[in-house]
Amino acid sequence: MTSLKLVEGFMPMQMLFELALCVALFALTSHLLSKSGKAMPRFWQGILFWVFIVSYLKWRVYPPIPFSVRAMYGFVSLIAVFMWVSSNEEDWKKFKQPIMNVLDANTGFHKALRTMFLIAIPIILWGFSYNSFLPNLDEPVELRTVHPAPPASTKVHGKTFVLQTSQNPFRVNPEGKYDQEYTNARIVEQSMGRLMKGDANPWDEKAEGYLKYVREGGEIFFQNCHFCHGDNLNGRGLHAFAFNPIPANFTDPGTIAQLQETFIFWRVSKGGIGLPNEGFPWASVMPPWEQHLTTDEIWKVVLFEYWHTGYYPRTWD
Ligand code: HEC
Repeated sequence: MTSLKLVEGFMPMQMLFELALCVALFALTSHLLSKSGKAMPRFWQGILFWVFIVSYLKWRVYPPIPFSVRAMYGFVSLIAVFMWVSSNEEDWKKFKQPIMNVLDANTGFHKALRTMFLIAIPIILWGFSYNSFLPNLDEPVELRTVHPAPPASTKVHGKTFVLQTSQNPFRVNPEGKYDQEYTNARIVEQSMGRLMKGDANPWDEKAEGYLKYVREGGEIFFQNCHFCHGDNLNGRGLHAFAFNPIPANFTDPGTIAQLQETFIFWRVSKGGIGLPNEGFPWASVMPPWEQHLTTDEIWKVVLFEYWHTGYYPRTWD
């Protein structure tokens, strides 16, 4: 079912169209069958249609619908099918005929069927209750503080950085002074996707200062981080789903957008292993980058993450 792609943004229209097409196809087949004298019994028509709807919801619709919602849709469509097969006396009679046949058991075949049901139904019920008595072996829920309180200061490559007063040495204006306003005005545009500002292209040969550092940060990002955090910085890297917790999605307003730049510097330097006690059970695979990158490289990659997502680092207020 994946060969026919659902197009993002047009999915509801596409689904309605598909469903309408299928229903038309059903009606046509049933019409042709009854014309040629081989009409399918109402009973099976109803069941087939319902099975179709439920399978469509389970296997066709993407992203997958949770079971509770599918159960609700399944129930509603069951009622709809029931209303359809019982809409008039004659249809209703035709629908319940096969059931009546089994209950009456006038022929040998129906008698065998009835005996089979008499044996099978208790066994199925027994299976359900047996299943519900089995102990539950799901892994326990882990409560993890995603953004624990940072330490007051952190030591990276022998230098102590006080988180409240440190600044990204590459967030500078043309005069070489720390300037968040200047750099904020040059990050990507967020309005329609993420677009680079025309006069602020880090890949321009002549880019200087802040923009040049963004480019260097980008190179560091694509050499070290994108395997996990993704090409688009959305946490959907090649290896992302091998991990639990999955890598942070920087485009989500709940990550770097609500954190100070020095907090990110500390997190990147120390990784999952360097999380404080609230970070228990330290299951994060985020590597401690101080072991692989210089202090400058860490600041630059942080600069790039803010530039690419179009978020401003939070300031200490
Ligand atoms: C092996 C996979 C992996 C690689 C490679 C990786 N990360 Fe991570 N990163 C994670 C995971 C998993 C998390 C989420 C758990 C956590 O917060 O520790 C994370 C979290 C983070 C966070 C915290 C975000 C927040 O909201 O607190 C930052 C910042 C970060 N990564 C930056 C980087 C940078 C920069 C690099 C490259 C230099 C990088 N990561 C490379 C796996 C990775």
